[in-house]
Amino acid sequence: MQFQWYPGHMTKAKRQMQEDIKLIDIIIELVDARIPLASRNPDIDELGKNKLRLILMNKSDLSDERKNQEWTDYFRTKGYFVVCLDARSKAGMKPVTAAIVEACREKIERDKKRGIKNRPVRAMVVGIPNVGKSTFINSYAGRACAKTGNKPGVTKGKQWIRLNKEVELLDTPGILWPKFEDQRVGLYLALIGSIKDALLNTDELSLELIELLKRSYPGVLAKRYGSEEQAFCEEAAAADVLRQIAENRKCISKGNELDYSKAAALLIEEFRSGKLGRITLELPKRAEQ
Ligand code: G4P
Repeated sequence: MQFQWYPGHMTKAKRQMQEDIKLIDIIIELVDARIPLASRNPDIDELGKNKLRLILMNKSDLSDERKNQEWTDYFRTKGYFVVCLDARSKAGMKPVTAAIVEACREKIERDKKRGIKNRPVRAMVVGIPNVGKSTFINSYAGRACAKTGNKPGVTKGKQWIRLNKEVELLDTPGILWPKFEDQRVGLYLALIGSIKDALLNTDELSLELIELLKRSYPGVLAKRYGSEEQAFCEEAAAADVLRQIAENRKCISKGNELDYSKAAALLIEEFRSGKLGRITLELPKRAEQ
């Protein structure tokens, strides 16, 4: 399957981001916890060199808890601060502030020594489309946020949201673009729903998903789609597994034939919404290869 990405306005976005990064202390980068590397653009490392870095593994409510830990360790050994997050839940925001303060401890101490008190740390949110940037900013900033743009010392036109006494956030997130270095990245992004389904061959995508699940999460498909009357054979070829799903879920077309496309769409939707359980597609080991 071929995946394409037309960066178009990305050069402009990149230039803007370069400007914004000059104004901040720490970059808050959102990745999708189900595919933590495929959902990030490593160019941010170059753009944000010399800046403190916090990675939020978002949508971690949908990813495998054990793998969340493995990925957290992976990023920590690379020098990032890391928090696993469900951006829709306001309750999950406390660890974010704690991590920002922890990451910026030296800067805060330095300010204190110079007699600068209560100067909040400045942060900006970045990430590829659909990773949850707006959801996060809404949850984190809440309703109480005060916009503090256009005051002396603040670059004209920039809006800052004062979150609490520790943190001030640039109100517009930086949009990164996915990097399709290898086709697996495209496949992963398609599976989590980051690429418009209209551009995809859903049947083929579902077969790839079946292969991935058979390898990494054996038993998951049988548990969800098995029926009492018929043993579900995950050992079968992916196309046969899809046929079993179509049969068991009564995906029938008008001509009374099995509707594979309907079964494919159903499987992908149920994966994306977490009905198959918490699943991480990308593994840290692979990332090291
Ligand atoms: P973006 O600004 O980075 O483009 O992403 P955005 O916040 O618009 O979020 C994209 C989708 O991801 C939204 O769903 C949002 O609700 C969902 N989302 C964000 N964070 C999380 C999370 O931690 N866990 C889960 N499970 N979902 C999350 P949507 O279907 O596009 O919109 P809606 O149905 O929520 O309105």
